[in-house]
Amino acid sequence: MTSLKGRHFLTLKDFTPDEITYLIDLAAKFKKMKQDGVAHDVFKTKNVALIFEKTSTRTRCAFEVAAHDLGMGSTYLDPTGSQIGKKESIADTAQVLGRMFDGIEYRGFGQEIVEELAEYAGVPVWNGLTNEYHPTQILADMLTIREHLGELKGKKFVYMGDARYNMGNSLMVGCAKLGLHFTACAPEKYFPNEALVEACKIWADKSGGSITLETDPLKATKDADVIYTDVWVSMGEPDEVWEERIKELSPYKVTSELMDNASAHAIFMHCLPAFHDLKTKIGAEMGKKFGIEDMEVTDEVFRKHSKVLFDEAENRMHTIKAVMAATLGYEG
Ligand code: CP
Ligand code: NVA
Repeated sequence: MTSLKGRHFLTLKDFTPDEITYLIDLAAKFKKMKQDGVAHDVFKTKNVALIFEKTSTRTRCAFEVAAHDLGMGSTYLDPTGSQIGKKESIADTAQVLGRMFDGIEYRGFGQEIVEELAEYAGVPVWNGLTNEYHPTQILADMLTIREHLGELKGKKFVYMGDARYNMGNSLMVGCAKLGLHFTACAPEKYFPNEALVEACKIWADKSGGSITLETDPLKATKDADVIYTDVWVSMGEPDEVWEERIKELSPYKVTSELMDNASAHAIFMHCLPAFHDLKTKIGAEMGKKFGIEDMEVTDEVFRKHSKVLFDEAENRMHTIKAVMAATLGYEG
């Protein structure tokens, strides 16, 4: 029987395909329990700390609702409200929180920060997004693909856009471990780093998947089962990069033409938030400045695939619940 009790959840690189599948299965089980109104508040004596050094809608809400459903208390530390890193080191913060809480979520900057927290906390630490990885998102994405396409192995998964950052990296690792055929499609400078590509190729060989890097959107998306994208400028990056990103990544925008080039049943996915229209502050600003109507995905594609996209967002909660429960010792 798989047990993840006491483990940290920092990147999917640390987990075997069986362990990742176990978490997705557990999430599906929790989802069904929630739908059927079956209580699962098995951790009534436990509390979790949620550190957010960057903003969030989905991840924060998913952790809070999941903690509540599991019977736990949660404390949210917002990007300005704690001493972390400013007046108190990561190691000291980890030891303080580890004395009060049974698990700690961290969203912020470098992966080394969440790793240091994990080293000193003495309780499970969960990565809620760093510059390099966003592992809880991948569990939700895989559950969503399974729900919509039936299985994961052998599916052709294409990631369009900046593939060097948290989403591109984590999706490549997840696909490699679970036997999907992963293609990163971008200008070469946006390809994931070589060492990670090489590691993923080894995992993909074992799982029956593959890793491809491609600059041509039509070649990459031909017969794809899943086309995925993310924002072109991530949280924490300077505003100055917008112009260059819009110029260099516009040919990689997900359009109806690309979706029509994919297989007939292809789905579009996005971790969200997405710039598919000008109804956001940044979207409107970029629209005015660069004369554009959308960015990484057209509004038409976004709307057509909204069921998948909002299932994906909902699945953040069920999968995060599975991660917390499994690492805190859930035996269900
Ligand atoms: N996908 C995701 O992590 O969304 P939030 O930034 O809203 O948490
Ligand atoms: N790459 C994005 C993902 C948001 C969920 C960011 O880091 O801002």
